[in-house]
Order: sequence, then C-alpha cells, then structure tokens
Amino acid sequence: MPSLLPGRTTSKIQRIGVLTAGGDCPGLNAVIRAVVKSAVQRHGWQVLGIRDGFEGLISGDEAVTPLTIESVYGILSRGGTILGAASRANPFLYTKQQQGSRVSLNVTPRVLDRIGELGLDAVVVIGGDGTMRIARELHEMGAPLVGVPKTIDNDVEGTDYTFGFDTAVSVATEAIDRLRTTAESHHRAMIVEVMGRQAGWIALHSGVAGGADIVLIPERPFDLELVYQHLCRSFETVQRSAIVVVAEGAHAQGDSPMFRRRAGSQDKPRLGGIGEHLAYLLQVRQEEALAAGSEMEWDIRVTVLGHVQRGGTPSSTDRVFATRLGAAAVRLIARGRLGRMVALRGSVLTDLPLSRVARVPRIVPLNCDMVLTAQELGICLG
Ligand code: F6P
Repeated sequence: MPSLLPGRTTSKIQRIGVLTAGGDCPGLNAVIRAVVKSAVQRHGWQVLGIRDGFEGLISGDEAVTPLTIESVYGILSRGGTILGAASRANPFLYTKQQQGSRVSLNVTPRVLDRIGELGLDAVVVIGGDGTMRIARELHEMGAPLVGVPKTIDNDVEGTDYTFGFDTAVSVATEAIDRLRTTAESHHRAMIVEVMGRQAGWIALHSGVAGGADIVLIPERPFDLELVYQHLCRSFETVQRSAIVVVAEGAHAQGDSPMFRRRAGSQDKPRLGGIGEHLAYLLQVRQEEALAAGSEMEWDIRVTVLGHVQRGGTPSSTDRVFATRLGAAAVRLIARGRLGRMVALRGSVLTDLPLSRVARVPRIVPLNCDMVLTAQELGICLG
C-alpha cells in the first residue's frame, strides 16, 4: 500500500480551491486550516474558499473568498465549517424552484467553467460518500479534484476511519453516562437514538464505551422478543435499569427503517423515529406479559441525540486526523495525483482513486472485533 510520504513536487500549481459539501462534521475547519497553511506556507499557492459546497461553483463571485493564514486563525477548535455546507447542491441533480415547482437540472458544465474562470489548478473536496461520488464523476469530466472523506457515521468505503466519528462517539457516550444516572435512580429503561443511517458504528462504539445493555444497528435487524427478554433480565441484576442504544437506521426483523416525511413535501425523507417506535413495541410487549401474569414492570424513556452529535468542538483525535488529511490532500496536489481521495488504511495515511471509493457504504461487518467484543461482554445486539 503506497504511503503518503513527501515526494517530489511535480506540478506547477498556483491556485487551489477548497469546499465542504454534505452535512457538517467536527473537524472540517481543521482540514480547511491544514489545506491553507500547507498550500500557502509550504508551496506559496493561493487558496480560494468556495462557499456552501458545490453551490459555490454554481453561483456567482460572492460564493468564493480568498483564504489566507489570517483567515484560518483560530478555527482549529471550531465545529461546523467556516465555508458553509450544502447537502442539496448536487451539480448532476441541482434542484431549484422554477415558476412554482421544483426542477432538477444538470449544471456540471457550469461547475467545470467556473473552475476554469477562477483559475483553479485543483480543488480539495471535503465530504461524505455522496460527495465523493460527485467528485469522481466530475473528475471523469475533467475537473481537477482531490477528495477528503468526512462523516460522523464512519461509513465511507476506502478509508478505515473518518474524522468526526470520534467526536460523535464521545458525545453519545457522555449522553449514555448521563442517562444512566436517571435510569438507575428511577429503575427505568432508557433508549438513546444515535445517528447512523446504514452503518451502526456510532451505536456500537458508544454502546461499548457507555456500557449499554442492548445495542441495535442497521446491519442486524433485531428480534423484538430477544430485546424484551434481555431488557427484563437487566432489571433483575444489581443495576435494576437498562440502557438501549439504537442507531437511527436500525429496524426490527421484517420491518424497514423508519423515516420522517412531512405530508406533501418533496424533500428527501429523513431517517428517524426508531427510538420512539421501539419504546412503543416494548411497552406493548410488556402489557401482554403483565396481562399473562408477569410481575416485571418498568418505565421507559427515549432520548434522540440527533445533530448534537455533529455539532461543536472536535475532539483532539479528530483535530489531529483532520489536519493530517488536509496536509495530505495538498501533498497529493503537489505531486500531481488528482482524482484521488486521501484515506487511512490501518495506521497508514494513503490515497486511492476516486473510482474505488464510496461505491457502497462501509457497514459494520457482523464478524468484526467490535461486534464480537460487544457480544462477549453480554451486550444484546438483538
Ligand atoms: O451522514 C451523517 C448524518 O449525520 C446521518 O447520520 C444522518 O442521517 C444525516 O447525516 C442527517 O442529515 P441532515 O442534517 O441532512 O438531516
């Protein structure tokens, strides 16, 4: 596996761009800062910040801003992105309101022209799996791009790790710790719904870190009866309470993931609601058991962590990792290796073609060490 060690600079780069697409994620500013610092200080390049993801390559001049060492001062520890992000601005399917209805257009020619007009020799595209797929297609059309993967979900194929994940797991773990005190005081079951659309990495890691009793992930549809029985057993132990961590994309066997959608809305449906639904199913099951003579009775509450996991200060691990990725992206550009994504494989920073990344989500393998560890510790995975 090639490691991203310093190599001979082959290119005649003068100006590069950087943009953050998709949802925000702790560590984005650390990448931007690293890109600017190494591009300006090490190579003497100019850097343009492109606002709101690909939107900034579709709109006018106000959508770009020069980035200097001064403009990235103090952003290392800040959450969000100083450039703004837009999950919807996909240049292949750019939606906008036209005469009262929403239309989708392919605006990729505009993006390619804009890169030329701005004199950008390369653009660092920071984003999740959707963004990496857009970057790959734009690169195939001639755009000089390099990718930096991000997402709290940790599910981008091609890299073993994404920045933002560590912070999200810390936030979720702290929430579990806090909920446990109430669970124990009131002898309750507490359900914590965490993010994770297709991959249960956040649920699994925070569940193990927080000592959860039950962890439900999208990769393994759960058996409600198993969950109910395990929950009851938790009340028979010294803790007399239970913590259930459920990923937003988890679902019972035979069911589909739960989505929230406003009636009549054309927006993409959003995952959510499994925490409340699970509480309902467990309560119904408990009522059946009580009617059949069981004396086991507990109360249940649900907490949905939502975007709290994505906001705020990045952990030191995420800051360091994001900084390494930003510097590595600049190194790639300097060596003329465009059309590639920087990645971590094991403990080695490397890069691979955009054509080989983000084709499928990097989900939790059910035989991986984390799953085995959880099971060996007696955590029920449904
Ligand atoms: O991909 C990261 C993620 O946080 C998912 O876990 C979640 O489903 C989604 O983003 C939420 O996106 P939005 O902010 O668009 O609602």
